[in-house]
Formats: sequence, structure tokens, C-alpha cells
Amino acid sequence: MATFSTLSALTRRLEGKVALVTGGATGIGECTAKLFSKHGAKVVITDVQDELGQSVVKQIGASNSTYIHCDVTNEDHIRNAVDETVSAYGKLDIMVNNAGIADPPKPRIADNHKADFERVLAVNVTGVFLGMKHAARVMIPARRGAIVSMASVSSGMGGAATHAYTTSKHAVLGLTRNLAVELGQFGIRVNCLSPYACATDLSKKYLELDDEALEQFMVSMANLKGTTLKAADVANAALFLASDEAQYVSGQNLFIDGGFGIVNSAMQIFNYPQS
Ligand SMILES: NC(=O)c1ccc[n+]([C@@H]2O[C@H](COP(=O)([O-])OP(=O)(O)OC[C@H]3O[C@@H](n4cnc5c(N)ncnc54)[C@H](O)[C@@H]3O)[C@@H](O)[C@H]2O)c1
Repeated sequence: MATFSTLSALTRRLEGKVALVTGGATGIGECTAKLFSKHGAKVVITDVQDELGQSVVKQIGASNSTYIHCDVTNEDHIRNAVDETVSAYGKLDIMVNNAGIADPPKPRIADNHKADFERVLAVNVTGVFLGMKHAARVMIPARRGAIVSMASVSSGMGGAATHAYTTSKHAVLGLTRNLAVELGQFGIRVNCLSPYACATDLSKKYLELDDEALEQFMVSMANLKGTTLKAADVANAALFLASDEAQYVSGQNLFIDGGFGIVNSAMQIFNYPQS
């Protein structure tokens, strides 16, 4: 893979852009922040894990990135992160609403607690709503911008995660579509991403597996064989949606699931004999 120094100005796809990534201290958000920076963007990383967030800035370089403490459920924090971004870099071109959590899996709804349900919705839905609201506040006068939010394969199907998580990711898609309609008149694009599972702190905690065991488990259930989904694959899709290459793409939910979400497991008509 090309490094920062080997990406020429011609191949840097976010040259001159300013991006804010929520939940950028670890996992998909960290990977996305680093990739955006390689592609020429100034990146503001926000999270609640301050030490990890600061360390991502150190790795990227303080001249191209900043860390801001921001709990996405707190409107003052989000407002401040967006305003600080604009005051540091003059604008906000790309908002990545990535921060997310999952509740512990409990197979029966009767065992699910209201507090867990509300906590997941607070981060995964209210957090995305607030990120969209404050990004739109500064993007509308500029009449440009791209908003990319992290949904999940659970935005389009039931049975792949908890009730709270599945509800929250369906809601991210709903918000994405509604806002794409509102902001189209200002030239602002709004999309979301729906990955299959890859090994991050969130998925490892949820499945109680280490990196290797999680990847083996997900590969065994995957539709697309011969490859394993990594956070970098999700970051690459975010790069596409954030870049001008996607300049006419809005209101879309891009699945990064190797076709998992469209398989009907009851229909086994394509089974080749195993050699
Ligand atoms: N890993 C997967 O398999 C997978 C699959 C589909 C979708 N996703 C989604 O991708 C996104 C990133 O998850 P990840 O897998 O990289 O997990 P992760 O746990 O590595 O990263 C999530 C980040 O969000 C931060 N965060 C949590 N609550 C926050 C809050 N209130 N305010 C600000 N930041 C907060 C965490 O500190 C963490 O740094 C999430 O929205 C998740 O639902 C992940």
C-alpha cells in the first residue's frame, strides 16, 4: 500500500479538504482518519478516549491533524468540535459520523434492559443526528460538503446483532436518506456505509473473541470467500464517498459486506461440489 510520502499530489484524493471523524481514536475511525490524512486532508479526530486520540494525532503529525475530546451524545461537545475545526482550518468539507457502541448480546427481548437500549440509541442515533446537524450548520452556507455515517450490515437485515444495535443502524439509514433530501439543494452529499464485521474493539467485545478467532468466525459465515474484511476496506469506502469521485452519489447506503446481506440462505442453488 502506498505511504504518505509516495502518494503524489495527483493521487491524493482529498487534497485541500478538511475532515472531522467522530470515534477516531480506534478501529474504523482511526483507520479512516489516517487514510484521509494520507490523501491530503486536514483531519480532526474526536473521541472520548483522549490518550488514544492524542496518539493517533502523533502518528499522523500535528501539522495535519488535531484531537478534540467530544462525546457525541453531548450537543455542546459536537457544536464545539465543529466550531473548533472551522476556526483551526477555515472550513469543514467532510463529516464522518463513525462513533458507535454495541450492547451485550441477549437472545431474548425479555432480558434486554431499557437502559442498554437507550444508551446504544444515544450514541449510534442521537450522536449521528447531532453530527449531521452541526456539520450541516457550517456546510449549508458554504454550499458544499460530504457527510458519511457509519451504519452496518444490520441497517438492512434482522438477526445479525442485538435489537438496540439493529434499530440504531436502521435509524442511521433513515437519517441519511432524510438529510440527503434536505441538503441536496445546497450541493451537500449525505451517505452511509454498511460493513460486515471486521476485528475492532467493538466487535471483539461483542463476540468475546480475539482478532484471529473473530476473523475466522466471520470468514466461515461470509458470502465472499478468499478474503477477510479489514477496517482498511471500510476506510477505503469512506474515502470514496468523501471524495469528489463520488460527486453525484447521495442518499446511498454502501454495503461493504461481500454480498452477505443479499444472500437468501434458504436458497442453495449455487452450491458447487467441494473438491
Ligand atoms: N467493527 C465492525 O465489525 C463494525 C461493523 C459494522 C459497523 N461498525 C460501526 O463502525 C463504527 C466504528 O466502530 P469500530 O468497530 O471501529 O469500533 P471501535 O470500538 O474500535 O471504535 C468506536 C470508537 O467510538 C468511540 N466512542 C464510543 N462512544 C462514544 C461517544 N459517546 N462519543 C464519542 N466517541 C465514542 C470509542 O471510544 C471508539 O474509539 C461504529 O459505528 C460501529 O457500529 C463496526
